[in-house]
Amino acid sequence: MHNRDVEKVIARDKPVWEAAAEFCLRLANRSVEDHNAFFWALAGGSTPKKLYQTLTQAPYRQSFPWAQTHVFFGDERCVAADHADSNYRMARENLLDQVPIPENHVHPMAGDRPPEQAAADYDRQVRDLVPGEPTPRLDLVLLGMGDDGHTASLFPDSRALGETEHLVCANHVAKLGAWRLTMTYPLLNAAAHVAFLVTGGNKAEIVRRVLQDGGGIYPIEKVRGEKQIWFLDEQAGGLL
Ligand code: 6PG
Repeated sequence: MHNRDVEKVIARDKPVWEAAAEFCLRLANRSVEDHNAFFWALAGGSTPKKLYQTLTQAPYRQSFPWAQTHVFFGDERCVAADHADSNYRMARENLLDQVPIPENHVHPMAGDRPPEQAAADYDRQVRDLVPGEPTPRLDLVLLGMGDDGHTASLFPDSRALGETEHLVCANHVAKLGAWRLTMTYPLLNAAAHVAFLVTGGNKAEIVRRVLQDGGGIYPIEKVRGEKQIWFLDEQAGGLL
């Protein structure tokens, strides 16, 4: 499917994280107006850091509905919460410790527990906390993309790609020689909005293949969501 019918924002007149922050703010306030909550799954990796830092500054810090925001994680490395590789630690340092979000609204995956058990527990948590039938409906899932077309921890040739029942699963990633915890397609695709944040010229070719060739060969291509928006800096969007 060529030119996938998704919204693309290639930031030229402002940093891409500024455009993404404006989107998150608008969506959060709209979600709160609609159902008095904003259910948000954060992305890991390094790209989101500047977006998170932007949200801790004016005007976002004051106007974001933190008291009604509930934060989840799209994936996690199987490490302790204070480990340098922890997505939870990254989100704490760059966002959560600097905004007035209620502590019991932050729901980390248990990277330090046996992966299968941690995944089952998180599946239960999401089902208990996020409304939606038959599948919990997150208001926003923020995701990044690796240069192999993975997103969250849905890596090429990994077992999690075939998961159709569970909302969260443990996924052994052979190329990393490591276990990950990840939301799966059933949960991601039930989301009201999916926003990808991708930067850097090293990802321009994979962005072009995903958004123009649409060959469906990369894990990220199977992520849908009711609405999908791509936030790209000029380098990552340079081949579109
Ligand atoms: C992770 C992320 C992963 C990430 C991509 C891009 O845990 O690493 O969930 O999917 O978004 O690997 O990572 P960068 O933003 O660091 O390029």
